[in-house]
Amino acid sequence: MSDKLKSLDDLFQEQLRDLYSAETQLTKALPDMAKEARDPRLQQAFDQHLIETKNQVARLEQIGRGLGLELSGHTCKAMQGLVAEGKETIAEDATDEVKDAALIAAAQRVEHYEIAGYGTAAHYALRLGHTESAELLRQTLQEEQATDTLLNNLAKNYINAKAM
Ligand SMILES: [Fe+2]
Ligand SMILES: [Fe+2]
Repeated sequence: MSDKLKSLDDLFQEQLRDLYSAETQLTKALPDMAKEARDPRLQQAFDQHLIETKNQVARLEQIGRGLGLELSGHTCKAMQGLVAEGKETIAEDATDEVKDAALIAAAQRVEHYEIAGYGTAAHYALRLGHTESAELLRQTLQEEQATDTLLNNLAKNYINAKAM
């Protein structure tokens, strides 16, 4: 057993690498989700979040540069699973309306995973005195929360009703 994790700082670095892998995987998955969405507002939500996600990758790279960390080389297995399930959703034989509802269900799982990750990482950064990193992580956290709320509103306000 290696004990490379000896401090909260080590754990913070590991969490950053995990988030970096998760976000880079999403930059590849979101275009497919957007293409598959039939509702224009849902499509727009995915397109907009793709732009945000690319910016979130850049924020993590900025944090990595600031702290002198290499963030690549790790794979977030949870995101691999979430993306695989998203692909299953895309491949499913469903009506347009049900497909849109299913895409939201898959996407909200992703957002909640990210919210958990960024909430933790932002808290570690603050505790470790990495003020600038904490601020960047908090900005991303807010984008993930806003995306989750947007998807929630789309589903509750009309997409789920169309799928009935
Ligand atoms: Fe993200
Ligand atoms: Fe996200």
